[in-house]
Amino acid sequence: MKLQQKYCSLIVLFFLSFFGSAQTGLIADKAMVVSAREEASKIGTAILQKGGNAFDAMVATELALAVAYPYAGNIGGGGFMVYRKANGKTGALDYREKAPLAATKNMFLDKNGKIIKGKSTESPLAIGVPGTIAGVFAVHEKLGSLPMSEIMKPVIELAEKGVIVTKKQEKSLNTYRESIIKANGNTTKFATVFKENDTIKYPALAETLKRIAKNGKNEFYRGQTAGKLIRYFKKIGAIITKKDLAQYEAKWRNTLEFGYKDLKIISMAPPSSGGICLAQIMTMISSFDLAAMGHNSPEAIQVIVEAERRAYADRSYFLGDPDFVRIPLKELMDANYLKDRMSNFNLNKASLSSDIKEGKVTYSESTETTHYSIVDSFGNAVAATTTINDAFGSKYYCDELGFFLNNEMDDFSAKPGEPNLFGLIGNEANSIAPQKRMLSSMTPTIVEKNGKLFMVVGSPGGSTIITSVLQTILNVYEYNLSMQEAVNAPRFHHQWLPDLITFEPKAFDTKTLEILKSKSYLINEKTTPVLGKVDAILVLPNGKLEGGADFRGDDTAVGF
Ligand code: GLY
Repeated sequence: MKLQQKYCSLIVLFFLSFFGSAQTGLIADKAMVVSAREEASKIGTAILQKGGNAFDAMVATELALAVAYPYAGNIGGGGFMVYRKANGKTGALDYREKAPLAATKNMFLDKNGKIIKGKSTESPLAIGVPGTIAGVFAVHEKLGSLPMSEIMKPVIELAEKGVIVTKKQEKSLNTYRESIIKANGNTTKFATVFKENDTIKYPALAETLKRIAKNGKNEFYRGQTAGKLIRYFKKIGAIITKKDLAQYEAKWRNTLEFGYKDLKIISMAPPSSGGICLAQIMTMISSFDLAAMGHNSPEAIQVIVEAERRAYADRSYFLGDPDFVRIPLKELMDANYLKDRMSNFNLNKASLSSDIKEGKVTYSESTETTHYSIVDSFGNAVAATTTINDAFGSKYYCDELGFFLNNEMDDFSAKPGEPNLFGLIGNEANSIAPQKRMLSSMTPTIVEKNGKLFMVVGSPGGSTIITSVLQTILNVYEYNLSMQEAVNAPRFHHQWLPDLITFEPKAFDTKTLEILKSKSYLINEKTTPVLGKVDAILVLPNGKLEGGADFRGDDTAVGF
């Protein structure tokens, strides 16, 4: 046993010495972009260097990720953006996908009311109406400063010149090649075996982007591109129609804002669960002295896990698209309600998620979505998270247009009480209806301290997004880690059901896990390779910016 403990401590030391030793991320004087790919961070930063603002850089970075990172970057999916302008004004854009007009509540069930496995994830019915192009045009129209053609030029050049395959990309393409071929046949672009250092060119996507740059948003939703996309949908058996595309609009929403000690957290409101869950968790933990308990100590883990358990239980029952269901936001964020929720928490023993049966869910690698953070030299900040849901979305790739389509319909609750891809249990509030937006966990977040911009943060990771964002903020604020250390630090996650704490493997010492087990916590340390992939920016006391780019991916900070 002693030997085993020693062995585990060595593993932790190894992990920390490579990824978590005292270190800072890239420091920049004025402006920065942190994203999942160097190409996208460079293109976003170049736009800032040209005098563009954070919103111009958002458009460029989002579209560059669609080229450089087809795993999650997209024009066939959707996302959320939260912003804070230099004058302190905040806002949020919802460019989440929508259910098609022909969608029905029970479309993923068989005649006996049972979920048909794979239908909401790997079939043409999994595809929601894409929102990304509407999103970037809405941002540009309201907040941008440079002409769209100028912003899109380097993105189109990147698609034409091509993107160099990284080691991690080679691995992900290998992992999903068979399912991509299954969806598209063996002449599809990604049937080719791409190796590290190969260059993948995207001529079809470049042509699509050129038409969009020339003709605007309508090119995607009503123009030639829409026509081609509808023909493709018909061919594969998807139910999205011309009318679905023509009716799609991105929507400006109020941000969800709350206080944590002397921080103000500005995050995404429903149809994302991110902001509200973060608000609930942070309010529930705010009366505990986490700093004194110690970073990733058993006690701190317990407090955070118990708050997570309670917030995710509420998520499951109450949350959905606010355009379709009434969400009691005020009540859910009420300090007395949340104090009461934690009143049965006992440091000596785990609470139980169930009166309800234990979920029998294993996690798949859940890094599909992608987040980027931007601060410009004027002091504007953007946090944006964008997704096609699963890795390479539904795997349906329109070769003629050059992009993957999402499988976001799986984020609906196909049947109350049944888990989705991320093991999340949903309810009536998140049931399927035509034109409804599926509940998300995406948590693009901006943090103010003493009224000033402090941090821009977000993550992919499905249900683990919220807890990854939470721990990153706490790592800086409660534990004084640098931005890069806060991103590097090992993470854990609890989502009510299944009633398990998931730990990043080989990153927590055996003693911590043993103490938690002795208090009846169930531990999952095996099936989740990484939790989240955080890209964040911290404003340092001297006004400079520190980037935190997640080593778990190819993420890169670029700034000046
Ligand atoms: N598709 C992951 C999310 O929106 O939470």
